Amino acid sequence: MASILQDPGSFRDPLSKVFVGDGTVVRAFTEMGASDIDKVWKKKSIQRALESGDLISSTIVEPASVGLGAPWVSAMTHPLVPFISYPYEWTFSMLQDAAMLQLKLTRAAVVDGVGVKDATPYNIQFIGSRAQFIDAGSFEVRKKGDPWYGYQQFCEMFLYPLMLQGYLGVGFQQMLRGSVNGISIDTMRKLLPSSLRHPRKGRLTHVVLHAAAQKRYADSNVDMKKQAAKSGLNAQVLDATMKKLESIVSSINLGDKTSTWSEYSERGHYIESSLDEKQKFVRDAVASAPRKQVWDIGCNDGIFSRIAAAHSDYVVAMDADPLVIDRLYNTLKAEKNEKILPLYVDLTDSGGGVGWRGQERPGIFNRGKPDIVMALAVIHHMAITFHVPLASQLDMFRDLTPELIIEMPHADDPMVRKLLTNKRDGIHDDFNLDEFERLLNERFTVKSKMLLSSGTRTIFHAVRKG
Ligand SMILES: C[S@@+](CC[C@H](N)C(=O)[O-])C[C@H]1O[C@@H](n2cnc3c(N)ncnc32)[C@H](O)[C@@H]1O
Repeated sequence: MASILQDPGSFRDPLSKVFVGDGTVVRAFTEMGASDIDKVWKKKSIQRALESGDLISSTIVEPASVGLGAPWVSAMTHPLVPFISYPYEWTFSMLQDAAMLQLKLTRAAVVDGVGVKDATPYNIQFIGSRAQFIDAGSFEVRKKGDPWYGYQQFCEMFLYPLMLQGYLGVGFQQMLRGSVNGISIDTMRKLLPSSLRHPRKGRLTHVVLHAAAQKRYADSNVDMKKQAAKSGLNAQVLDATMKKLESIVSSINLGDKTSTWSEYSERGHYIESSLDEKQKFVRDAVASAPRKQVWDIGCNDGIFSRIAAAHSDYVVAMDADPLVIDRLYNTLKAEKNEKILPLYVDLTDSGGGVGWRGQERPGIFNRGKPDIVMALAVIHHMAITFHVPLASQLDMFRDLTPELIIEMPHADDPMVRKLLTNKRDGIHDDFNLDEFERLLNERFTVKSKMLLSSGTRTIFHAVRKG
């Protein structure tokens, strides 16, 4: 039996932990956790979530059958999520859909006598463009009068980030990357203008009232559970609260309509035959071997991700423009596409590990092993705009992937000229085709290359040396 190891990100729940082996994910339960799960697993709310796919498919197994002994008394196996992503790599619509899923599952559970322990987007993953709840250990018996333990967390990790974007036009991703606990109530109160904070305006009651309640209880000996039971906090009251939250969450809009790269799809800049020949080159390169995972860096509208998806199991499509990714996500969602995962990632600043010991949520380079990476019409942006030398970029690609499809715009390419307009003369003289080929050949063996008919770009399919 292949050995399985505890996931370094799974330690916060004292009653269950996740173990990962080669192609296997196991959630194991302690005696107390197993007793919770036994009592709720057959409930309608859970069974429906399993049937619809809102909750990850789960097979109950004997811990010994997956190599686990004490203290684990029960276990379930789950399919492997093809690529784990985090809320700070999601766009507005992705976080909004994740929030709606969290509320949907929690509402159905609460009225069914099932409690949901927390409300964190880290319990949700995207399978392509489909959000799925992956923490089967989140459910427990709900005792009469129990509050919704995830309420504050829901506000801090879903609602406030969405408000930040929708009401203030500020992206939430940097703040979520800065803190695994999300945006605190205090911070949110300070950020929102007072005109939006008045409780009579309704929509922000959650920011104000909750903050006030939290402050009151934080340093007191008041037993919140008893208080909640006394004040008649029954399932209907919680359900009404969550219903209200659903309407707030769904009413927040992204706002942004255009961005630097949002109109790129028209591709008016391509000389007519260039796009066709580039697509053919990419198709031939990806299709030349079976691929489990492809990364498309600087994917924009995903035109090349789609080609890759037709010849591989799964594509992670990344771009540094959140609006572009938001649109791609909504298009893929409308198609029910589960093969392309769109992510908001700036490769020049993708972040390292965050959370406990910097290992709880590993950086993007430690979360997947692409068989082939596509970097099409993107390296000049990283080199000239963000000053990441070509040699460093190629080092990164060599460490990341055994195969690479990479497009190099020449020094006389119109976009390269444009990017250089406001740069000091001479500082990017090493950005040229000869130097690029020299650096590429040091690290990769070129299998094929093609000069695009624009005459100012060359595309390469290369295999890592050694
Ligand atoms: C010229 S478009 C290329 C789109 C597509 N790959 C193609 O070949 O047609 C460049 C894309 O790269 C993205 N981009 C630029 N810098 C990036 C970075 N540091 N990390 C990820 N994407 C980046 C831009 O947002 C833009 O969508």
